[in-house]
Formats: sequence, C-alpha cells, structure tokens
Amino acid sequence: MKNVFIFNHPLINHKIAILRDKNTGMKEFRELIEEITTIMTYESMRDVPLVPVQVETPLEVTTQYRVPEESIAIVPILRAGLGMVNGVHRVFPTARVGHIGMYRDEETLQPREYYCKLPEGIEDKMVLLVDPMLATGGSACDALAALKKRGCKNIKLMSIIAAPDGIEKVSREHPDVSVYVATEDRCLNENGYILPGLGDAGDRLFGTK
Ligand code: PRP
Ligand code: URA
Repeated sequence: MKNVFIFNHPLINHKIAILRDKNTGMKEFRELIEEITTIMTYESMRDVPLVPVQVETPLEVTTQYRVPEESIAIVPILRAGLGMVNGVHRVFPTARVGHIGMYRDEETLQPREYYCKLPEGIEDKMVLLVDPMLATGGSACDALAALKKRGCKNIKLMSIIAAPDGIEKVSREHPDVSVYVATEDRCLNENGYILPGLGDAGDRLFGTK
C-alpha cells in the first residue's frame, strides 16, 4: 500500500518482544514505548523539510540544514498515545503538543471523541499523530478527520503495533496520510484486540488494571 511504511527493524522488534511479554511491568513498558518511538521518529522523518542556516565552526562559516522545530506538532490520541510524546520530544524537544481524546466503546468498538485541544497555527505544521495501537483503525481515522476538520494538511500517523484491518482502513479513508508502523500483527480477536498484540496499551502504560 502506498504511504504505508512497516519498519520490521530487528532492533525495534527486539524491544517489541519485551513489550509484548505480560510479565513486563509498567515502568519498563513505558520506557520501551518511549525508546521505540524515538527510533521510529528518526525513520519517519526522512522527508522532513530542512532550512539552510549559516553555522560558524571554529574554522569557517558553512551552510548547514536544520529542521524548523516550530513547524512540527505532536498529537497523541489519549490515553495511550501520551506514552509516545516523550519519545518524539527526544528528537524535537520544542515541538508543540495537541491532544485528542478518544475511547473505544467496548461493545460497538466505535471510537468516541471526548477532548480536543490543539496548538495555535497547527494547520501550517507537520503533524505527527501518535498512538501505539492501530486495531480496527476507527480511533486513528476519527482523529485524522478531526485534524483535517481543523485545517491540518500535512499529517503522519505513527503506531507501534498494527492489525491489517487498521492499516487497510486508514490507507483507504486517508490515502494522503503517511502511516508508519513498527510491526504488523496477525489479526484482531472478537473483542477488537490485536493478536498476538500486547493487551491494552493504556492500562499497561498507566497501571489502571
Ligand atoms: C486504544 C488504543 C487506540 C485504540 C485502537 O485506546 O490506544 O486509541 O484503542 O483501537 P481502534 O484502532 O480499534 O480504534 P482505547 O480506546 O483502549 O483507550 P485508552 O487509550 O484510553 O485506553
Ligand atoms: N487497543 C489496545 O490497547 N490494544 C489492542 O490490542 C487493541 C486496541
């Protein structure tokens, strides 16, 4: 699928193996999500626009290229996306952060938006929408629609584990959005959980179960 990048990087997969383990505790889980996100951010920014800057080295003045950090915004889908924000901030420490709150109705699996607060001028920024889990794709598609409704035109979606259904739905409904996924899992179970997956990312990040 065009615009879908599945990393399958050995070092990321190594970390995901630990993440999946049900015996991995909350602290290590949170740290791994952050580390994996940092690596994924480097990979997903290969096409980031750079601006020329004059730099004076101890020897001479040279033209170099930098990312204008003010042009980047991070938008986590609450709650689990929050776990990825620090991972992106390690790369772009001054990127502004917007929040979109979504939860899946446990019976219908339909996402419900309950919160949206975005940085001023977000319509002109490159938006990195983050959520570790892309299952049915409902939450990501609604979050993308919410961002587009507010004028965002340049959006990347970054998820750590994705089901084939979620990847397919996002690329069908939002073909203009580049989707970066660390690994694609087998399928969803009858409750919409990814198999083999890692369980409920929000609960494991915040210790709510
Ligand atoms: C999880 C996850 C995604 C969503 C993915 O959130 O973080 O946002 O499910 O599922 P989907 O692709 O089928 O929409 P959840 O609704 O469990 O809320 P939480 O982050 O508050 O736990
Ligand atoms: N949300 C999660 O946190 N995990 C899944 O497997 C599916 C949706």
